[in-house]
Amino acid sequence: MPSASFLLYGANGYTGALVARMAARLGLNPILAGRDRGSIVQLATELELEHRAFALDDASAVEANLKDVPVILHCAGPFSRTSQPMVDACLRTQTHYLDITGEIAVFESLAARDAEARGAGVMLLPGVGFDVVPSDCLAAHLKRRLPAATKLTLAIQGTGRISHGTATTMIENMGRGGLIRRGGRLTPVPTAWRTRRIDFGRGEVSATTIPWGDVATAFYSTGIPNIEVYAALPQSARRMMAASRWLNPLLTAPAVQAFLKRRIKARPAGPSDEERARGASFVWGEVEDDGGAKCVSRLSGPEGYTLTAQAALAVVERTLKGDAPAGFQTPSLAYGADFILELEGVTREDVS
Ligand SMILES: NC(=O)c1ccc[n+]([C@@H]2O[C@H](COP(=O)([O-])OP(=O)(O)OC[C@H]3O[C@@H](n4cnc5c(N)ncnc54)[C@H](OP(=O)(O)O)[C@@H]3O)[C@@H](O)[C@H]2O)c1
Repeated sequence: MPSASFLLYGANGYTGALVARMAARLGLNPILAGRDRGSIVQLATELELEHRAFALDDASAVEANLKDVPVILHCAGPFSRTSQPMVDACLRTQTHYLDITGEIAVFESLAARDAEARGAGVMLLPGVGFDVVPSDCLAAHLKRRLPAATKLTLAIQGTGRISHGTATTMIENMGRGGLIRRGGRLTPVPTAWRTRRIDFGRGEVSATTIPWGDVATAFYSTGIPNIEVYAALPQSARRMMAASRWLNPLLTAPAVQAFLKRRIKARPAGPSDEERARGASFVWGEVEDDGGAKCVSRLSGPEGYTLTAQAALAVVERTLKGDAPAGFQTPSLAYGADFILELEGVTREDVS
């Protein structure tokens, strides 16, 4: 077996396994890791890769498993529960940290460790999946087009179903309302606060505010102080989100959370290979300055989970080549606004 290149934690999850298979096809030779030895061994045997089994609640085991590894790609979420022990160990072992979170609180907690990471010579780059690589690169492109921009609006549209992990993360964040950035500060707003019409390139559709990762990251990438993110959702989902405002205390109750998670487990783990091959994703962005000038650009690309695996591995490859600036990074801060265009199937268009 050739020498291993990076450690992929959470390799037995839906997204982790997708990344593992794509990495094996690309000859990247990751070490597959996770807490469930049985399923990790099974996948590693199938893909003829090295494996390690360890849980995140044992700090010395995490550290021991990272000390000979230059880069970790963390795919085990919700990251509000899993990122801190991994980052703690990475800073001790000088391992570059990548993850596929989309959780605003996680981005902010890693941004707060910037100085610590610089001191350790370690890159902390969360959000290397669909959330937030395409939208972050689009935000940086728009800032480049209108350097005086003071307002950024982003919107996403995906096709197809979501995975267990994505649904679980959404459920854990339900009942907490929405978030935007206003005057540089994270500002709570009601769930489904605003709805507007957006043309992702196939005619206008309705899109509603969601607390997507860019509310955190685009501020670090562009310095733009006012940021809103929208998602194109069916009318039924928009209505449900608006109705959930009145149910917020109920939605955070442990019994309700447990019931919803049981319902998720009864569904398929995520989109099938055929669904992903048929699917697509779209990102739209608009910047405005105080004089009323506006620019609009948009991206289209592969289905979200496919794009996540592609983007995460493109970041891994850069990092392994030593292109890993120390400290907290966003995708566009580390690799530039045009990084997204390196991924197969992604195109960008300046609309106005
Ligand atoms: N940024 C993006 O665009 C993007 C795209 C896809 C997924 N995601 C996020 O990635 C995460 C995983 O999604 P998924 O679809 O792969 O979910 P999944 O199929 O449910 O897999 C979850 C993985 O996380 C592991 N895990 C969960 N809690 C853990 C803990 N406390 N300690 C150690 N391992 C733990 C699970 O291990 P066990 O099997 O041992 O439970 C499993 O390997 C979710 O948070 C999701 O929102 C983000």
